[in-house]
Amino acid sequence: MSILDNRRLLKSEIDKVAEVAGYLWEKGWAERNGGNITINVTEWVDDGIRALPSIAGPFEIGFTLPHIEGCWFYCKGTGKRMRDLARDPMGNGSIIRILPGGARYEIVADSPVVPTSELPSHLAVHNYLLGKGSPYRASLHTHPIELVALTHSRKWMERDVATRMLWSMIPETKAFCPRGLGMVPYMMPSSNELAEATIRTLDEDYDVVMWEKHGVFAVDTDVMSAFDQVDVLNKSAQIYIAARSMGFDPEGMSPAQMAELSSAFGLPK
Ligand code: 13P
Ligand code: ZN
Repeated sequence: MSILDNRRLLKSEIDKVAEVAGYLWEKGWAERNGGNITINVTEWVDDGIRALPSIAGPFEIGFTLPHIEGCWFYCKGTGKRMRDLARDPMGNGSIIRILPGGARYEIVADSPVVPTSELPSHLAVHNYLLGKGSPYRASLHTHPIELVALTHSRKWMERDVATRMLWSMIPETKAFCPRGLGMVPYMMPSSNELAEATIRTLDEDYDVVMWEKHGVFAVDTDVMSAFDQVDVLNKSAQIYIAARSMGFDPEGMSPAQMAELSSAFGLPK
């Protein structure tokens, strides 16, 4: 028995998580248990789910998050592998509900898989998104090789230097990641400081932020769209590296070409 039985809409959202988890593994972005995904599934919760008893918890989130009080999330389990989640999302993740007060959660289905160690960042970001009325329901953290490599250089960590380079490698990147790539300086994985810095950077109007020397954190309406934003950015980083390894600095699209693209797609300048 699974919570997904006879729940077509909820199952289709979790199936998207499993599909993306498979892509992350295939791309080499998900070594061992690397990366995590959470999605806000509250809109697919019915009375049957609401009546489910807790199977583990309550646990402290580490923050008080008033906007997600009473919300429900699917979370990858800590220590679980994306390549396993791709086959079996409910065996490698669980559904949690946020208790009244917004400071604690309990696990309700299918089994007591403890959520990702990056839960403070994920839940604080969902709280931030709901608080500003955003339609975004998914957050994705992964370790894309070329984007992480960029963050090992001071130059690329400077505000929007990487964004401009990545946008100029191929027109799709600005079209499909129109807010660019925010930069968060190195902080301890799974810390509340990292969660707070992630929100500050998203609030500067990015959908995708880099965690220096660690990975990327992306938000979007659903997990497939969050993945797509990371995918186009990393593709650009690969084009840059390919040109450099052919022995030259890539020219990049010109300012006039970027301006033409921005007006054709209605993108910010
Ligand atoms: P979890 O296995 O706890 O999700 O951690 C993976 C990770 O990438 C931490 O940053
Ligand atoms: Zn990580």
